[in-house]
Amino acid sequence: MAERERSIINGQLAGVRAIPKILFFSDCRPELLIYRYIAGQPLYQTYTNRHTSIQDALRLFRATLLILGDIHSERIIHNDLSPGNLLIGRQNQVSIIDFGNATLHGCSEFHAVGKPHYASPEQIEHKPIDARSDIYQVGCVLFEAIYKSQYLDANNRPHNSIDAFNNSPINCLLKLMLDSARSKRITSTHECINIIDNLIYNQLV
Ligand SMILES: Nc1ncnc2c1ncn2[C@@H]1O[C@H](COP(=O)(O)OP(=O)(O)O)[C@@H](O)[C@H]1O
Ligand SMILES: [Mg+2]
Repeated sequence: MAERERSIINGQLAGVRAIPKILFFSDCRPELLIYRYIAGQPLYQTYTNRHTSIQDALRLFRATLLILGDIHSERIIHNDLSPGNLLIGRQNQVSIIDFGNATLHGCSEFHAVGKPHYASPEQIEHKPIDARSDIYQVGCVLFEAIYKSQYLDANNRPHNSIDAFNNSPINCLLKLMLDSARSKRITSTHECINIIDNLIYNQLV
């Protein structure tokens, strides 16, 4: 398993604030995790305390997806993305925390336990997970930030099909992120960012 052991020292990834200072994997699981202190509030406090427009929410999620893309490029799957694990600083800078459930791409022997309200279908079905599973979780959080209501219930079943919502550009993005069939889901954070940039640039939100 030695080839899967990795350590990441903060600073090697330029511009990435969210990576723990040291993250060392052994047998697909984090063995050593050291974070630096991040001054910030969990996302759920941010969007319940402050009025956030869809544009603000999208900017926040664009930043989140940028960081997540760097994490994925290191073959790390976070596995536990939720409003409690995104810290938002005073200038709206995002940090992704809580890598305790992380694993490496291709570690099929590790099955993440899906957390209530944010588990991807493949987590629930104990199938191998990949970057698309993280994207599904970010989709759940984005849905919540926009609609102020959780996408999944405590048993991880969608409250409402997004199809029941209108075909607004933001719902089209959510549908791509939250497709329960992983093969139909959007495949990378970069594609999500391209769509968000198009929505913002062309003032579609
Ligand atoms: N690096 C950090 N800097 C500042 N606060 C943190 C940091 N890591 C965790 N916290 C705080 O501790 C809480 C719990 O930490 P977390 O790693 O998410 O553990 P868990 O959710 O498994 O209990 C977070 O919601 C956050 O408020
Ligand atoms: Mg946490």
